[in-house]
Amino acid sequence: MPATIYDVAKKAGVSIATVSRVINNSDTVSERTRQQVEQAIKELNYAPNVIASALTKKSTLTLGLLIPDVSNPFFSELARGVEDASNDFGFNTIMCNTDYSIEKEATYIGLLKQKSIDGFIISTAYCDDVNITNLLKEDIPLVLLGRDIENADGYPLDVVGSDNIKGGYIATRHLIELGHKKIACLLGPEEIKVNRERKAGYIKALKEASLKVCEDIIFHGEFKFESGYNKTFEIFNGSIKPTAVFAANDLTALGVIRALKALGLSVPNDVSVVGYDNTILAEIAEPPLTTVNQEMRKMGYLATELIIKRIRGEREAGEKVICNTDLIVRKSTAYRFD
Ligand code: RIB
Repeated sequence: MPATIYDVAKKAGVSIATVSRVINNSDTVSERTRQQVEQAIKELNYAPNVIASALTKKSTLTLGLLIPDVSNPFFSELARGVEDASNDFGFNTIMCNTDYSIEKEATYIGLLKQKSIDGFIISTAYCDDVNITNLLKEDIPLVLLGRDIENADGYPLDVVGSDNIKGGYIATRHLIELGHKKIACLLGPEEIKVNRERKAGYIKALKEASLKVCEDIIFHGEFKFESGYNKTFEIFNGSIKPTAVFAANDLTALGVIRALKALGLSVPNDVSVVGYDNTILAEIAEPPLTTVNQEMRKMGYLATELIIKRIRGEREAGEKVICNTDLIVRKSTAYRFD
């Protein structure tokens, strides 16, 4: 028969209330008592009954993680950080893929609410996202991860992201320093805020170098390999032939490289390409991809820590955490002398 909380209390020589306080990480327990209880839990292989706990404390120790698509390694890395923190804090995570659909986002939020999860970590938000503002109105703990919205209706909101303006800027400045003057920019959907910011960084670098901002070579795609591939034909069939492409994520950049090969153009000799994220794909690409690094696992971990502290009542909402971005130079970019 599985061990109960009574067995743990008896073995550790403490009350049931003390065992419960240890399980819930209360700081009213002495270090010595905590160790005794943890030892008893270990020896008896005791697993707290989550459902019973939910009924008494209205907590399921469960978080909902919404991402657009786990097959993009950017989101696998974020999810790994979330999982690591959940595990460290005694929580579980349910992950849902929304396929960039606002309707699917709403459906999953509804399903997770039915499961009485304690809070949401959301990496799917669009600039104007009614699903997010509804959650804020209902005062359900949530943190946006790698995404932000334009208007939170005055509600305090937790956000963990990175400096996308800097990211777009350092990617473009790198290409300018290599001598490129005609730099195309291939972004994801315009309704996702990071794209507006990465574009702002791209424009900032061009203006700083007194280069013309040409809307004809700024494109919006879907943050996917296929989109990078297809848009490259559109870009290079236009009247301006860029010598470099700044792609707003690694998947898009890989699509660009594949299409350039199909067009008989060599990377980096004919066209330089910079990606964004620094996923594992950037390292194994051919040629290895110069890209903007995001601290993905750290972002996932920090977002989870924030929400758990909020759920436990240890902090109020309203924090913005911006993680670092830097440029990783590999072999997909080269000097241009014309
Ligand atoms: O939605 C996909 C993209 O959004 C990622 O690749 C990453 O760049 C994120 O900001």
